[in-house]
Amino acid sequence: MAQPSLPLQQVLPSTSPLAFGCMGLGGSWDDAPYTEDHVAHAHAAVEAALDIGVTLFDHADIYTRGKAESVFGELMRRQPSLRDRIVLQSKCGIRFADSEGPKRFDLSREYIVAATEASLRRLGTERLDILLLHRPDPLWEPEEIAQAFRQLREQGKVLHFGVSNMSASQMSWLSRSLDQPLVVNQFEIGLGHLEPIEAGTTFNDGQAATRPGSLAWNGTLEHCQQHGIQVQAWAALARGRFSGDTAKDPADEPARQLVHQLAQRHGVSTEGVLLAWLMRHPARIQPVIGSSQPARIRACGDALKLSLTRGEWYALYEAARGKALP
Ligand SMILES: NC(=O)c1ccc[n+]([C@@H]2O[C@H](COP(=O)([O-])OP(=O)(O)OC[C@H]3O[C@@H](n4cnc5c(N)ncnc54)[C@H](OP(=O)(O)O)[C@@H]3O)[C@@H](O)[C@H]2O)c1
Repeated sequence: MAQPSLPLQQVLPSTSPLAFGCMGLGGSWDDAPYTEDHVAHAHAAVEAALDIGVTLFDHADIYTRGKAESVFGELMRRQPSLRDRIVLQSKCGIRFADSEGPKRFDLSREYIVAATEASLRRLGTERLDILLLHRPDPLWEPEEIAQAFRQLREQGKVLHFGVSNMSASQMSWLSRSLDQPLVVNQFEIGLGHLEPIEAGTTFNDGQAATRPGSLAWNGTLEHCQQHGIQVQAWAALARGRFSGDTAKDPADEPARQLVHQLAQRHGVSTEGVLLAWLMRHPARIQPVIGSSQPARIRACGDALKLSLTRGEWYALYEAARGKALP
């Protein structure tokens, strides 16, 4: 079945409906250097992602403390044609603790530029196709961010900009200062994290006071749809909570069983059901696959074969939320 186009395909036509998340590449999150085994592991994962048609590869400067980008850069050095076949995305704005302070967010002009240049060096490329601001920074000044974006774009270091983990109001606040539209918002959404959807469906159910924080999401999906901002879903596989053979938490069991029943009914993998649930949303959500196991990555490709009915979509939603809708 032909998939409807993604918002991101307006500016980057080669963008694929599924993205691959590189957080699992590069080994450990400490200062130990990466090894040839890590390069081989990354190579197998990237080949599996390419096999199922993935073109968008998602990085962040912090993943495995820069090693995910370095290992990916090594793959592109060994296979130079790879760079032109993919949409390369990275993020900046989170800093680990150092002599100047604890773990923190930094969306200052200087830090955005310096972190992006460091990502480019590790990746061994001259440009990122998309740069995301990883998280909102309470000390951010949108005009400074606009200056950083302008500088990076004029120097040809970044083509497009987006955000991550930001609400509709934060995107609006930031966009007022930018001279280029935001093209992506990447946040956690899926059967394992329903908040961005729940914020809309439970808006007037009389229990909002019991869910502090969740209403901040209200309108975020709609804002992205209205402004042509691509929603990217992290934790789209819910880290295996519903696709594996057992549920660690008994509360997940009904949804896990339903995911397996639907997979059997449609002849697809359980991963395919999880990702198809996101892709059925009218925001044309782009799931970011976080597995680094080739077999599991290939299983994710089944999402492209499945279009869930309205009834199936709601049955999964109800099973994952654990109670009927109001
Ligand atoms: N913007 C942000 O703030 C943010 C935050 C987190 C992640 N991300 C991005 O989103 C991507 C995906 O996120 P994610 O890795 O957190 O979520 P995910 O895709 O839901 O989970 C991937 C993890 O779950 C494991 N897993 C999946 N299915 C499993 C199963 N059936 N049994 C056992 N383990 C299973 C995978 O292990 P295997 O590798 O062994 O398959 C992997 O460790 C990341 O790579 C990154 O690019 C962005």
